Amino acid sequence: MCGIVGYVGPRQSQAILISGLSRLEYRGYDSAGIAVIDGDGDLGMRKRAGKLKVLRDDLSSHPMSDGTTGIGHTRWATHGGPTDDNAHPHLADDDRLAVIHNGIIENFSELKDELLAEGFTFRSETDTEVAAVMIGREYRATGDLVSAFRNVVSRLEGAFTLLAMHEDQPGLVVGARRNSPLVIGLGEGENFLGSDVAAFVEHTRNALAIGQDQIVAITPSGVEVTDFEGNPVEVEPFEVTWDASAADKGGWSSFMAKEVSEEPEAVANTLRGRIRGGEVVIPELDGLDELFQGISRIIVIACGTAAYAGQVGKYAIEQWTRIPVDVELAHEFRYRDPVIGPDTLVVSISQSGETMDTLMAVKYAREHGARTLSICNTQGATIPRESDAIVYTHAGPEVAVASTKAFVAQITALYLMGLHIARVRGAIDHESAAAHIAELEAVPGKIALILEREQPRIEQFAGWMADTRSVLFLGRHVGFPIALEGALKLKELAYIHAEGFAAGELKHGPIALIEPGQPVFVVVPSPSQSPEMHKKVVSSIEEIRARGARVISIAEEGDAAVLPKSDEVLRIPMAGPLFEPLLAVVPLHIFAMGLATAKGLDVDQPRNLAKSVTVE
Ligand code: F6R
Repeated sequence: MCGIVGYVGPRQSQAILISGLSRLEYRGYDSAGIAVIDGDGDLGMRKRAGKLKVLRDDLSSHPMSDGTTGIGHTRWATHGGPTDDNAHPHLADDDRLAVIHNGIIENFSELKDELLAEGFTFRSETDTEVAAVMIGREYRATGDLVSAFRNVVSRLEGAFTLLAMHEDQPGLVVGARRNSPLVIGLGEGENFLGSDVAAFVEHTRNALAIGQDQIVAITPSGVEVTDFEGNPVEVEPFEVTWDASAADKGGWSSFMAKEVSEEPEAVANTLRGRIRGGEVVIPELDGLDELFQGISRIIVIACGTAAYAGQVGKYAIEQWTRIPVDVELAHEFRYRDPVIGPDTLVVSISQSGETMDTLMAVKYAREHGARTLSICNTQGATIPRESDAIVYTHAGPEVAVASTKAFVAQITALYLMGLHIARVRGAIDHESAAAHIAELEAVPGKIALILEREQPRIEQFAGWMADTRSVLFLGRHVGFPIALEGALKLKELAYIHAEGFAAGELKHGPIALIEPGQPVFVVVPSPSQSPEMHKKVVSSIEEIRARGARVISIAEEGDAAVLPKSDEVLRIPMAGPLFEPLLAVVPLHIFAMGLATAKGLDVDQPRNLAKSVTVE
């Protein structure tokens, strides 16, 4: 939420900032702005409400002086609507200081009162401008931007990444972070700051992760990191494992189209290097056998799509490890006084690794004695740094706001984790584990088959449904979270009312929604692998058909039973019961994307949303 980029070096910075912002736009697209210290040492600033394109067009029709020190921001509005005035950067100290911010400063109104009483004035309704004015006031007192930051950040409550530069100190960008992301990119004679590595990956893959409550100062020749008290701290270097082209559209009509096409690789890359001699051995979990042997409970915490991945994972992890697993929305977990302790493993799942609700839940779990493991897709992100152990998904950068390829990678990582823990605890025999591994290894090929055979048909069919006002999704067992995911994708991409239900719950209420013509997607279990459940789901189909529903079944190739009972059948290859969700979700991703596209909507940047929700 909100993307931040900073640059110091020998090059003109505007193009670097704009290109960094274009890679961060998924974090918010309510407004965009840049500030640059030009060759004469003057600070210039331009900001516009709307997507980055509005700013870009404005800069090309009315160019602004360029310079080698700059900061840029793309906004997801919190305090104050998406207007030019509320856009960042915010200026202070007679417009000689520019500040950008990601997060929420919770005590901003009392700080603002204090500044108003001192005679300061404000041009926006934002919390950020309060921080800018405070930094400006401290700069006047100290004449040094780092000292000014140190004096201000200790007074701010909430979550923030702040970046600032001052006309008097060209060649310097200062940043600070608390509960909000910031990474450093190390170049040759130039350095970068970004909300994530996408901001600078086209220039350098050498990065440093900044820890919690730290201040960083970058100049062309160096980087200095201190804590909020000014003590120097060690920072962790890492190399970005993907290159800039991975975060480009690469000829696809949208990032989402590209990312759905990458679902097979997302699974394959997450499996890579983690299967040895027919067993799952996750190198990152070396040395943690004692931890896994000592737990008696697992709680999975996550939000949105990641939580649905957790719900799928629960079935497999419980079955394989015999450890009870609860799945909970991170924002609910933290506020209900959960019973946790050293025998509880709290597994967080987050694509971005920055979701504030999940981060706060992880911190809460640690503070209350639980052990924590993070499943994350983003190197250098905050959540893994706050956890005892990390299992990275290797889905590659996910740019479209709605998560697709990360979902299948998250389920894969959960399954690997489940098999790893089951092996360590001696809960699974070699033969069964090997059979599950073989199923997992077959998944990428099977997803590729769905994309090849079914995608054009699903897209055409989605186009016919462009006027639909409501769609229901039904599933049972592992098909239930897939129904929830199908409904969420349709809501957020196509703005259509959609609900997912457990098929067994139908008779307990939701069946009242069925009226003639109501489209209902049904995730049908395999007749050969799960005959009992197949029968039950087919009965549910009968019940809704009898009331006039238009049934779209997602069913295994060769399942003849569903044909006469469905208006449409989307086919998936056969897979064991626990592996079917990795396949059944693919037609639903294609459908939501296809329907949104048919309605002429922007599938990469749906309204009101942002990726990486870094506010609670
Ligand atoms: C839905 C979607 C969101 C995210 C959720 C968690 O398509 O993308 O529901 O899954 O905001 O995000 P991460 O995984 O980054 O913690």
